[in-house]
Order: sequence, then C-alpha cells, then structure tokens
Amino acid sequence: MSNDKPPLDPHPLSEYVAWAGNRNREPLLGVLKEKLPKDNGQILELASGSGMHINYFAPHFEHLHFHPTDKDKDVFDNIKKLSIEHGNDNIADPTHLDLTDPDTWFNAADREANTFAVIFCINIFQVAPISIADGMMECASKLLTNDGFLLIYGPFQIGGTFSTESNQDFHNTLSSAGVSEWGLKDITDLQAAAEKHGLELNEKIDMPANNFSLVFTRK
Ligand SMILES: C[S@@+](CC[C@H](N)C(=O)[O-])C[C@H]1O[C@@H](n2cnc3c(N)ncnc32)[C@H](O)[C@@H]1O
Repeated sequence: MSNDKPPLDPHPLSEYVAWAGNRNREPLLGVLKEKLPKDNGQILELASGSGMHINYFAPHFEHLHFHPTDKDKDVFDNIKKLSIEHGNDNIADPTHLDLTDPDTWFNAADREANTFAVIFCINIFQVAPISIADGMMECASKLLTNDGFLLIYGPFQIGGTFSTESNQDFHNTLSSAGVSEWGLKDITDLQAAAEKHGLELNEKIDMPANNFSLVFTRK
C-alpha cells in the first residue's frame, strides 16, 4: 500500500478518504477491542461512507451485530459489496440515517427493538457543520442502551486552540478550500451539544497523527 497522500477530497469513496481510513483503522480497532461488549450487542456506525471501517472491524467481533448507515444512499452498494467480499455476515444492510433528520433515526420510540450498545462515527466533523453535533447527540441519547457509549473519532480543536501545528495546518488547508463548513471543530462545542441531551465526555483518547477518540456516555 502506498503512503503517498492523495489530494484532499472528502467524498466518501475518494482515494483521500480511503488513505485516511487505511491509516486509522488499525489504531481504532485497538480501541474497540478494549471497549466493545464481550457479550451480544448491536453496534451502529454513523456516516459509514465506503464501509471500509465496519467491514474491517466486524470479523474481530463475531458475537456482535453491526449496522452501517449514511445520509448518502449512493455509498450503500459499496458497503454491501465489501460485506460480501469479506464474507461478513454480522453486518446488516446499510440504512439511510441523516443526522439532521430525526425521522431517519431508526424508530427511536421503539427502544426495545432499537437500542445500540455502541455508536461510532469516524471523520465527519472536519467536513460537516458543527450543527450536526446536536443531531448526533440527540440521536445517540435516543438509541444508546443505558450503559452504552458514543465514540467520535477525528482531529479537533480543544477550547479554541490546536493541539499541534499539523492540526492547525490541516485546519488552514480545509478553511482555504472555500467551503464554509470545512475545518476542525472544537471538542468544547461537542461537549455543549452532549450536555443538552444528557451525555458527557467520559474519555479523550490520543490517537496517532494528532487525532482523538472521544467517548461520550450518559451522565
Ligand atoms: C469524510 S466521509 C467519512 C466516511 C467514513 N466514516 C470514513 O472515515 O471513511 C464523511 C461521511 O459523512 C457523511 N455525512 C455527512 N453529513 C451527514 C449527515 N448529516 N448524516 C449522516 N451522515 C453524514 C457523508 O455522506 C460521508 O459518507
């Protein structure tokens, strides 16, 4: 596999997103091996994109059932193709879930049928508006089991500052692209959104290449 970084392109099926995913999937698997339930459970991925992560993780947790979702239905064929290629029969067919549209959040009223022990979301905030944090936290608070958690992975600012120069550089590159919603968002804003929906930041794990895994649980 080449380590050459392709040009920035947030499309979920782009070479750039695949390159980023190939770098972060192994460290993320390490975190999930520590934290995912050892018994049965339902695991939901938000913004699955190509499906490369869920298809990489699922074979390591045969006792769990995985549910890929995205707002963009065009990625579903790729997710299904990967599940077939990898023989992953613990991955459900992808479902349309748009964090800005509560009508797509499974049937949150039916808690018995629709609760998830873990919800995870990888690399969405640098190319999405911070306003989706509100939907993400509300969705998680509706769908998580009482002792479940939401794991958000990506690069972030912390209280208005960048933890490293490379994160500042990445933010500058994103900001100069002329798309108002691109750029590194602030963990403080995620915490404020979580508070509104009865969740709190429980753990902030430093990940390679100046990323974080943020673990939110019920208060
Ligand atoms: C940069 S891609 C990352 C995809 C994948 N998580 C990965 O790391 O390879 C961002 C993804 O967020 C999805 N997305 C953007 N806004 C969303 C929303 N409001 N609700 C759900 N998914 C959304 C996009 O469709 C896209 O698949």
